[in-house]
Amino acid sequence: MLPCRTPTTEPHVNVAPNGAAASPAAATRAAATPVKEPPSPARSLLDRLPRLANGRATERSRSRPRLAHEDRAVVVLHDVSKTYPNGKVALREVDLIVPEGDFVFLVGPSGAGKSTLIKLLIRDELASRGEVVLDGEDLARLARRHVARVRRKIGIVFQDFKLLPTKTVWENVAFALEVTGTPRRRIKPNVDRVLALVGLTAQARQTPAQLSGGEQQRTAIARALVHDPRIIIADEPTGNLDPLISWEIIQLLLRINELGVTVFMATHNAEVVTALRKRVVALEEGRIIRDEVGGAYHRED
Ligand SMILES: Nc1ncnc2c1ncn2[C@@H]1O[C@H](COP(=O)(O)OP(=O)(O)O)[C@@H](O)[C@H]1O
Ligand SMILES: [Mg+2]
Repeated sequence: MLPCRTPTTEPHVNVAPNGAAASPAAATRAAATPVKEPPSPARSLLDRLPRLANGRATERSRSRPRLAHEDRAVVVLHDVSKTYPNGKVALREVDLIVPEGDFVFLVGPSGAGKSTLIKLLIRDELASRGEVVLDGEDLARLARRHVARVRRKIGIVFQDFKLLPTKTVWENVAFALEVTGTPRRRIKPNVDRVLALVGLTAQARQTPAQLSGGEQQRTAIARALVHDPRIIIADEPTGNLDPLISWEIIQLLLRINELGVTVFMATHNAEVVTALRKRVVALEEGRIIRDEVGGAYHRED
């Protein structure tokens, strides 16, 4: 069997930054990326988010011919299965393509494999079989020294926020940049702009304990955005929030998606999923049983 646990000690900087070494060059990557698309309206709103609404995969999986519709894909899963070391099969023969700019709800009962799929995308776990390709990079073939760079293409948001309790809102977001060696002069403007985007400028000096649940999750979203990720991946981001606040968080994710960031979100929130009519991917016992554009939480036929 292939190794099931990622053989690296590098943390995901958005999750639990504890000083992972990373290339400072990555901090300037966004500015250096050639932009081919015409400027989108989003750019005037977020003039310091150069990776939003542009960019494309540059490296590709070399193990099989690429299909035309994968060209702009941020995520490609091809025949992916995941068996945990105890023999539990959590995902079976999953095929999934998420094009740039998509907004995807991942639904399914508890134990269906949603979090496992997300762990594969953030390379917290490796697939037992098949390919997981993120922004053109085959995660199984990724050299260890490139893991941190590829993870910066992802902004991740969890149900339980995972903020550092002794740091302020501002420091929590800044820390995600500090651990990747971002020059100090670049940290302040970047942190300020994402806090403005999520509406937390006034709370910047408060610690997580002084925030509501919704504000804590908005802090986590700001931290997820501060690297200009290609995709926001959220595992039940509204799971700990009441319905009204859940809607606020969803509205924020929709706005971020409108600015050009792909959003992939696991959720149990049937009301939100059914109301929004986005793409719905439904898992059951590790298999995709439905993949529907404009779908509802439950099958409607
Ligand atoms: N580390 C693990 N080791 C063994 N089994 C696991 C592990 N993580 C999850 N599972 C099992 O895999 C299945 C899918 O879990 P998960 O991906 O967490 O589902 P969901 O997020 O949809 O609730 C469940 O049966 C769960 O018990
Ligand atoms: Mg889960």
